[in-house]
Amino acid sequence: MLAQLGRYRVDRLLARGGMGEVHLGRIEGAHGFERPVVIKVIRNELVENERVAMMFVDEARIAAGLHHRNIVQIIDFDLFDGGAFLVTEYVEGCDLRTLLRNHRGALPYAVGVTIIAELATGLDAAHDATDGSGAPLHLVHRDVSPSNVLLGRAGDVKIADFGVAKAKSRSYHTVSGTIKGKAPYMAPEQILGESLDRRADVFSLGTLLFEVTTRTRLFSAQPGPMAMAHILSGDVPDPAERRPGYPPALAAIVRRALARDREQRYPTARALVDALDALAATQRWSQSRSVIGALVEQARTRAAGVPSGAWLPEQGTPTPRTPTSPTSRGRAPRT
Ligand SMILES: Nc1ncnc2c1ncn2[C@@H]1O[C@H](COP(=O)(O)OP(=O)(O)OP(=O)(O)O)[C@@H](O)[C@H]1O
Ligand SMILES: [Mg+2]
Repeated sequence: MLAQLGRYRVDRLLARGGMGEVHLGRIEGAHGFERPVVIKVIRNELVENERVAMMFVDEARIAAGLHHRNIVQIIDFDLFDGGAFLVTEYVEGCDLRTLLRNHRGALPYAVGVTIIAELATGLDAAHDATDGSGAPLHLVHRDVSPSNVLLGRAGDVKIADFGVAKAKSRSYHTVSGTIKGKAPYMAPEQILGESLDRRADVFSLGTLLFEVTTRTRLFSAQPGPMAMAHILSGDVPDPAERRPGYPPALAAIVRRALARDREQRYPTARALVDALDALAATQRWSQSRSVIGALVEQARTRAAGVPSGAWLPEQGTPTPRTPTSPTSRGRAPRT
């Protein structure tokens, strides 16, 4: 176990992810200055692989320029003897996959809708990001999936890992047909290896909206040809089949976000946020961050005691709707 990486102290292993190990660490400065950080170390066996190393470099270079409360902040990128690491802000809480696995029953609609609207607000800012000269970067996240959604104990919602983001300005090109990301959350055009725009992320947001509001996966968890064939069919189940009493207006938003033809989708993540906000106002759903924070705490406690491998149920359990009051969300600052 590493104890020190560059100017960062490494405290403990948080998780093992797709690219390597994720550690909790800290920056130490003068006079006892300290700040917790997450240090993502590229897996040793991948260090030799130039394409993977370049992915890390790109993640750092592109994402470091994004500053938004709904985007995990990149702090640093550095090399060490034979390896590379990325330093990001630490979101103390849990990821959305952990929340869904450890929550009993369905989440209140207000909670699910708020999580997706916050996420979409961060993605919209990234989609609109420009380079130093004001030219659009055309960022597309391409891996909007539950493990990349981080929820803080204070109820903050952040998208992580622009590591597979494809900017037009990127310094290398993926082999055509390479599919990154996680199949059940990918847009049809991504599975087909077509050129992508922000609407691919809108589709992925649709799959997450379906999942958080029904607490069942839209598409099979089994990666592979079956899941892909299902996504490509454009066949989206009615959320009311998974959760009785599902509001038809919310089902309509889900359907539009998940349109097989991207021309039929919300054109931007912002348009999806606007639709969700308008629905929340008419349904009198409001969600304070403290409610999300409380659910995060609960999930963390349960995750500590629940054996790993616990799986999402195929069918959601209906729960009574929570009476709430309307809310509004400010527009995201552009980056
Ligand atoms: N900045 C962070 N703060 C807190 N926890 C984090 C942070 N970054 C990652 N994690 C945790 O570490 C886990 C693994 O992250 P990692 O991104 O390496 O893999 P992944 O998200 O499972 O897969 P992928 O490689 O597709 O992103 C996350 O799911 C999350 O629980
Ligand atoms: Mg991740």
